[in-house]
Amino acid sequence: MAEELLERYGQYMNPALARIFRFTGIDSVEDHGQGAILWDESGHEFIDCAGGYGVFNQGYQHPRIVAAAHRQLDKMGISSHVLESRPGVDLAEMLSQITPGDLQYSFFCNSGTEAVEGALKFARAATGRQEIISTIGAFHGKTYGSLSVSGRRLYQEPFEPLVPEVVRVPYGDAAALAAVISSQTAAVIVEPIQGEGGVVIPPDTYLPELRRLCDDTGALLIVDEVQTGIGRTGTLFAIEHSHVVPDLLCLAKALGGGIVPIGAIVGRPGTWKFFESSPLIHTSTFGGNPLACAVALEALKVTVEEKLPERALALGQFFLEQLRTLQRRYPKAITEVRGRGLMIGIEVPGAGIGGALISELFQRQVLVVYTLNNERVIRLMPPLVITREQLDTVVERIDAALATIYPDIEELLD
Ligand SMILES: Cc1ncc(COP(=O)(O)O)c(C=O)c1O
Repeated sequence: MAEELLERYGQYMNPALARIFRFTGIDSVEDHGQGAILWDESGHEFIDCAGGYGVFNQGYQHPRIVAAAHRQLDKMGISSHVLESRPGVDLAEMLSQITPGDLQYSFFCNSGTEAVEGALKFARAATGRQEIISTIGAFHGKTYGSLSVSGRRLYQEPFEPLVPEVVRVPYGDAAALAAVISSQTAAVIVEPIQGEGGVVIPPDTYLPELRRLCDDTGALLIVDEVQTGIGRTGTLFAIEHSHVVPDLLCLAKALGGGIVPIGAIVGRPGTWKFFESSPLIHTSTFGGNPLACAVALEALKVTVEEKLPERALALGQFFLEQLRTLQRRYPKAITEVRGRGLMIGIEVPGAGIGGALISELFQRQVLVVYTLNNERVIRLMPPLVITREQLDTVVERIDAALATIYPDIEELLD
């Protein structure tokens, strides 16, 4: 079954990616999911530690979120764009209540890259300035604006020229930012933890320093929480760990409750003033559709009421400790384990070792993936509803996978 699908995938979608699927031996076709478990068409049961790269915080098919989707779908899925629509306003009101500080207004779109794209536009319009400062290793999406502020040349070069007036500085280094930020800077865009960069956690002082530098120069601080948001790192938004209020906050992924695509830009009052010049200056046909907004509202309620951030914090601590024990057992295979909440990266000495580990784990029915901008880091981002018992099983299977490949690694590195 998988081979037949891969054949057609290669024929009609992406031949190069089909070859990679074949090479890695990841030859299952997903069928359905529940909580932290994904089943393939042959009935194999996988514990999903990839979590859709941050989409499935509330788990697959959370019953309350599925029910909210059905309720709204039975009424209408897409807005008429003539009458007013209730779910979007309800969602915007809740976001203004649960996001930090005076973040108040929301604009809804359909993906993370659109949220970033909009935030960059809003920053230029709000400040009348052009320069955007972003960080090396960042990942903000793959449409032109967000690609231009992302940090991996491989994804940029074939598409140049990119959006102009972008300056890149090393991540986690406030002094590097201080050296380039000025009264010409419209915005600094940053992830609170770099996800695709390899689960990179900056020093505690970094984000407060960035806030101060932005305040001193009149630049806006855009915080991209597309991956870190909605409970993943142990707080509803990762920026809360730093007690910093951004001017613009980008959300997507888990905002959709693992059911629908939705993105959001949430802004402080000053960042929204440019809408006065034309209320329709930035719009999206599908953005803010009633189906996505009703689902996102329920997803947020589930996240808060089921205390998923607290759960991520407690389980994350346990998971990190277990993985660090494995690091001590297999020191040549794991160079570092780092993370916050249930956003965890295992760094290995080389991409080949990472590939072997991913493949061994797949054979043992645990799903993990690389980070996009750093192939030496294997990301563990299970649904926040994963149970302690399931995590125990994951640790046992990582142990077994490492035991299998370790003799080869030792030989390779000696
Ligand atoms: C931090 C961050 N920003 C933006 C994006 C882009 O989101 P999307 O793939 O929904 O366009 C991603 C996707 O991985 C991300 O991790």
